[in-house]
Amino acid sequence: MNSNSNLADAISNGDITVAKLVSMNYKYAGVFTKYGIDFCCGGNIALNKIIEKKSLVSAEVKDSLLSLTEHLETDFTKMSLSILIDYIIHEHHDYLRENIPVIKAHLEKVATVHGKNHSFLPKLKDIFDDLSNDLIGHLNKEETILFRVIKYIESCDRFDEKPRTNGYKSLDHLLGNYIKEHETAGNLLAKIRELTSGYNPPADACTTFRVCYKELEDFEANTHKHVHLENNILFPKASELELKLGLINDQKEKERNK
Ligand SMILES: [Fe+2]
Ligand SMILES: [Fe+2]
Repeated sequence: MNSNSNLADAISNGDITVAKLVSMNYKYAGVFTKYGIDFCCGGNIALNKIIEKKSLVSAEVKDSLLSLTEHLETDFTKMSLSILIDYIIHEHHDYLRENIPVIKAHLEKVATVHGKNHSFLPKLKDIFDDLSNDLIGHLNKEETILFRVIKYIESCDRFDEKPRTNGYKSLDHLLGNYIKEHETAGNLLAKIRELTSGYNPPADACTTFRVCYKELEDFEANTHKHVHLENNILFPKASELELKLGLINDQKEKERNK
């Protein structure tokens, strides 16, 4: 079973075990925790059985699981820059703010309990701390500086207004730093992947250890998509708009007149 539609069928059908579901999508663990369902030691029970045993509303539990299963493909290149920015904040910046403290706590626990037998764990924790500190600073800067500039020039284009160029620094000038920070994050993610042997937990790993690896793998996937949306769609489209509005020429002209 490897497609979302098969997984959705298995949830609707309810014969699949709770433990199997968590092994296929660790995000389901949050739903089971919410409903007081043991997905760890007592997880070898079919979904329908545990729902019946706990007298839960079947549709409610299954809908919660299905909402984490469905994946809608979106054409990001057709979005306005403002909507794309809101999407990035909602799907990626909020994700980082919510998940970094959770992963940090799990890594801390795993490094403390298993650090003796697995000497790479303190290093893994330190790299994740560096990466998360960098990312939080980075996204705060994007929201307070870069995204505001992009939304501003897009609104000027929409309302056919001439942007105020007094003190304006070209986006190209700004974007280089953001792209460098993306590269640094990518390098730290690659180190995490290497240290965790591609997110393969050791044979003696406990549930928290395994959940932590899944969280890190998801963190990598989310961050790669985040950086892709910015580097390959948002930033080039914003630069194009800047060129169209004549802002780059104005800036270069100013630099020449200095
Ligand atoms: Fe971002
Ligand atoms: Fe970014």
